[in-house]
Amino acid sequence: MRPLSKKLSSIERSQTMMLFARAKKMKAEGIDVASLTAGEPDFPTPQVIKDAAIKAIEENFTKYTANQGIPELLKAVAEKFQRDNNLHFEPSQVLISCGAKHSLYNSLQAICNRGDEVVIPAPYWVSYPEMTKLVDAVPVIVKTSPANQFKITPTQLKKAISKKTKAMIFCTPSNPTGAVYSKDEILAIAEVVKTSGMYVISDEIYEKVVYDGLEHFSIGSIDAIRDQVITVNGVSKAYSMTGWRIGFLGARKDIVDAAEKVQSQVTSNANAIAQRAAYAALNGNLNGEVKAMVQEFDRRRQFLVSEFQKIKGLEFVYPRGAFYIFANVKNFIRKTANGLNIASAEDLCEYLLSKHLVATVPGSGFGAKDWVRMSYACSMADLQKAVGRIHAAFEKLQ
Ligand SMILES: Cc1ncc(COP(=O)(O)O)c(C=O)c1O
Repeated sequence: MRPLSKKLSSIERSQTMMLFARAKKMKAEGIDVASLTAGEPDFPTPQVIKDAAIKAIEENFTKYTANQGIPELLKAVAEKFQRDNNLHFEPSQVLISCGAKHSLYNSLQAICNRGDEVVIPAPYWVSYPEMTKLVDAVPVIVKTSPANQFKITPTQLKKAISKKTKAMIFCTPSNPTGAVYSKDEILAIAEVVKTSGMYVISDEIYEKVVYDGLEHFSIGSIDAIRDQVITVNGVSKAYSMTGWRIGFLGARKDIVDAAEKVQSQVTSNANAIAQRAAYAALNGNLNGEVKAMVQEFDRRRQFLVSEFQKIKGLEFVYPRGAFYIFANVKNFIRKTANGLNIASAEDLCEYLLSKHLVATVPGSGFGAKDWVRMSYACSMADLQKAVGRIHAAFEKLQ
């Protein structure tokens, strides 16, 4: 038998996806698992969006579209970038893809050559290093500190840059830490970006999910580096549309053309019906719905924070955005419970799932080995159930 791709032996599977699938399977088997794994709002997609999709089907809008996206959606995205992010793109500078994940991958394909380095602050979203490796580039991981709320500093960034640096992947609000960079912090990072000439792939998928009166700021809106920034966003999180698979990017025209070329050979256009639905999301005056969803996430965040503050030895950085709490579990490692030896955060997650029926994700996939990510994008009832079980589980480890 001929061997499979060598490259894939160095690529990890998405741990979040695996644990999400495992919790889902247990639930399907009738096991009452409280799952804090998913990065997915639990609210239904708003009705106007669903209506637009139904109408698209009824109108037989079910064929290939232009590879780049349907004109009205390209225009709506350009207007969204202007309205929300102070980014000035023509519709021709937008590319619609199959989720923000796809937009990120297309961006990397568009700019990277073999051996180029891509700076990734850790903790990072699980897919950044793996996607970087898939395009034959090299991830350069920069460890950030919880003392700085897991934000990369300009000095750290400067140090990570070499002659081979092609780009940095920048994510605010952050998955998994919930960190939100301020405008001043971003301006300071932009100075380094400007001097180095590298690109920034700015993942802004959680831009709407910020708390405590903070405001999202787009790095691409800084005049001095506008042409170096690829801004990635989508409808998955803001409009509860994870399954529809629509993401988009805005960038310099030649970058968009390159990304579009990649897409034209790999997937062609994003789903036609979902593009109509995404148009309805962006043009549907849904600010009220988005605000209500964020308020509900905030209520859950505060509940989880107050409960976790009661667990002696559990440390975490106060999350300011997205819908995750990233907790340090080092004080619970090397303990024994229910006959299980807990030697790592993975073991702890296994203990939580198998003995206490709470699914969480170990930090190793996010580049932080003693940490665990818990999502509060699940119902309050599930969250309460999970918290009760987590208290019981950690008590046994004291
Ligand atoms: C930081 C980050 N970027 C991108 C994505 C992918 O979004 P989409 O579902 O639109 O592909 C996710 C999804 O979890 C994410 O957490």
